[in-house]
Amino acid sequence: MRRIKLNLVTFYFMRILLSASLLMLVVLILACADPAPAPAKTSIYNPNGDSELTLLMRKMFDDAMRMKATVAKGEVPKVLAEFKAIHTAEATEPDKAKSEKFKNFANAYLATVEALQQATPVEVKDIYEGMVASCMSCHRAMCPGPMVRIKKLHLSYQD
Ligand code: HEC
Repeated sequence: MRRIKLNLVTFYFMRILLSASLLMLVVLILACADPAPAPAKTSIYNPNGDSELTLLMRKMFDDAMRMKATVAKGEVPKVLAEFKAIHTAEATEPDKAKSEKFKNFANAYLATVEALQQATPVEVKDIYEGMVASCMSCHRAMCPGPMVRIKKLHLSYQD
């Protein structure tokens, strides 16, 4: 009788120990699965924050959005940002921006910006579309991610 009782006690003790260690394990796994602080996510490709080229690109995008509204009315827009910096702005992947391919795409883009500055109201829509196409060509070839956003610059695009 005493023996059985002792065994029962051992049994319960073991069960408690087992569930306790299982609980510990779950807590540990959950603790590890806890997402690291936000900066870790962006730091993989961009440890020092946004590159100069990224900042310039955002300005180019905003400026183009503003131009789109003017062009849609058939008016010639003013080009504001200093886009020539596309050749010198430090990129997240500097080698990419120093490549011959990038330079050619950048020159093609700058040519459309220049044409836009000299456009007449009759041709302004076509030239503007040409500029958006030049954003797209470089991105299709070198950096496809932002294409979804750039698409919105087309005159035909409506939200
Ligand atoms: C010569 C190639 C080239 C041309 C032309 C170009 N881009 Fe980019 N763009 C890039 C590259 C490369 C990046 C990535 C920058 C980096 O990570 O440093 C980028 C990044 C971007 C981004 C992402 C910015 C962010 O918030 O991460 C947007 C939006 C963008 N470009 C819009 C445009 C628009 C709009 C145009 C035309 C007006 C344009 N791009 C023309 C190469 C180009």
